[in-house]
Amino acid sequence: MRTAFRILAYGRPAQKHLFYALGAFVLFNLFNVFSLTLIIPFLEILFAQEAEPASFPETLSLEDWKKYLFYQLYLFRMEAGPLKALAYFSVVIAVAIILKNTFRYLGARAMAIYENRLIQNLRNQLFEHLVSLPLGFFIRNRKGRILNLLTQDVQIIQEAVLGTIYNLLNDPITMLFFLGAMFVLSWKLTLVSLLVLPLTGWAISRLSKVLRRRASQGQKRMDQVLSILEEFLSGARTVKAFGAEAHEKQRFFKANAEYTDFMISLRRRLELVSPLTEVLSVMVVLGLLYYGTLSVLQAELKASEFITFIALFGQFLSPMKTFNQAISRVQKAIVSFQRLQTLLSEAPEKPSTHLLAPIETFQDKITLQNVSFAYDSKVVLENISLHIPKGSRIAFVGPSGSGKTTLVDLICGFYRPTKGEIYIDGRPLSEIDPTSYRRILGIVPQDGILFHTTLLENITYGEKGPVDEARIWEALRLAQAEDFVRELPQGLYTLVGERGQRFSGGQRQRLALARALYRQPELLILDEATSALDSESEARIHEALTQMPRSITILLIAHRLSTVRHADWIYVLEKGRIVEQGTHQELLAKNGLYSRLYRLQATS
Ligand SMILES: Nc1ncnc2c1ncn2[C@@H]1O[C@H](COP(=O)(O)OP(=O)(O)OP(=O)(O)O)[C@@H](O)[C@H]1O
Ligand SMILES: [Mg+2]
Repeated sequence: MRTAFRILAYGRPAQKHLFYALGAFVLFNLFNVFSLTLIIPFLEILFAQEAEPASFPETLSLEDWKKYLFYQLYLFRMEAGPLKALAYFSVVIAVAIILKNTFRYLGARAMAIYENRLIQNLRNQLFEHLVSLPLGFFIRNRKGRILNLLTQDVQIIQEAVLGTIYNLLNDPITMLFFLGAMFVLSWKLTLVSLLVLPLTGWAISRLSKVLRRRASQGQKRMDQVLSILEEFLSGARTVKAFGAEAHEKQRFFKANAEYTDFMISLRRRLELVSPLTEVLSVMVVLGLLYYGTLSVLQAELKASEFITFIALFGQFLSPMKTFNQAISRVQKAIVSFQRLQTLLSEAPEKPSTHLLAPIETFQDKITLQNVSFAYDSKVVLENISLHIPKGSRIAFVGPSGSGKTTLVDLICGFYRPTKGEIYIDGRPLSEIDPTSYRRILGIVPQDGILFHTTLLENITYGEKGPVDEARIWEALRLAQAEDFVRELPQGLYTLVGERGQRFSGGQRQRLALARALYRQPELLILDEATSALDSESEARIHEALTQMPRSITILLIAHRLSTVRHADWIYVLEKGRIVEQGTHQELLAKNGLYSRLYRLQATS
């Protein structure tokens, strides 16, 4: 129940429409019941029933009022004649029906606005939250699960919300009005008909139990299906190259079969509920007919009242049914919402509780003090301490898997060190607002991707303000990308294609470098940014980098050691530790890991 209200909280921006709807539904139901009870005068006229004289009741006694009204009806019929009376009631019914439907329409309209706005708000807030999550979240979680959350689970909630809040709101009002009218007609018959309530109560509780227990398992299985799909889509080239189509197919079929079997077993249980309640409620109706007819025969009840009662009761059952269905959809939505809450409860990168101070510029130095880092329990970096003075060119080298990328990720603030602290100009990185900090960074990641839009937008990505074309060309020139971009028929307005697949690996790297340079960063980080280039282009880029003004600090990761020769200081990493450091010459003289690697590359 609490969860259901949490879902409703997303409708707050459109809440006034909920109240409009509520008001309209009350009026709709009022006119609905009213138009139905007008069967009574028709039947009375049709059967030319007589009524015993009754005076205006002094009390609120129901019986007296009914007698009085029946007598007035009788008098009216006698005075005006049956045909005129009939015409009179026809007009009243017509007006009631028009009003009823007008209010139904107004209510449904307000509901449509409310429900759709709620879902829109939910989607927006989910995405907003997703974007705010730290990088680690996306590495820890399978994409298939996140996709499922944002598509299927939202869809389930949408199905539960669209048209269901309508029922949750309107059906109880309808039932209440009908019950009231039935009670006025005959409280005895009403009590008999209320026997259906425990039956539906049983059905609802059974449904809820089955659904709640099982729906989450169903969604977990859907996560699997989507994960396989997502992996195939992003790795189609590898799948084809290794002829693994059959293997992928099998994996998918298996996951899909598990999901399907599960859904069948769920449906088997659910489908039992409807026929059972139907049979039981028909029994109640039969009892009602029997008892009602008996009352009419014993003149306890007028025939017109009994027939109207049956008509009302018939209408009373249908909101009950739709209300039940609404409840079962809400149950599924609750399960999905609880899954969404696992996402919503992930802490965002920037805690909103205390404001972090922004950083304007990088002035002096970056310091790492005894920094260690572990992914889950696997220690990747151990006790790293180093200084990066402003304006220096620092290189990190070492065998694959030694922790180079992780180290610069820490410096970028993508993860928090598990031990130790990183200081920027003496201020702990954890107390600096990450958005402002990243504004001064230019990062060319090892697996940099391009977005499916124009080159221009890719290069100016994340930059606000007017586009400076001269600056773009300057960045492209530095990144050795000017020539091939000039040759493109549409130049900067060329569409890049999904993940930049339309460019070669080396071209992508150069474009990613141009993107980082365009920002005119104070701290430029290159993680294997030129690894896919031919030696000549690579050498030219590094030549250009050494020419860059000393106001820019450059961190460089490279496997090709010839490119780090000119760095001011080189750190050699092995298994998460700094094993050597110094300038190129110093390291060669040491005859350690660095000189060994360097000589290996020189001879090959
Ligand atoms: N998301 C992750 N979860 C768990 N372990 C990880 C994760 N990312 C990296 N690692 C591990 O951390 C270690 C260091 O990885 P890192 O990417 O920093 O190495 P690297 O020095 O950049 O290697 P390369 O030269 O191949 O790019 C590796 O042993 C790797 O297995
Ligand atoms: Mg790396």
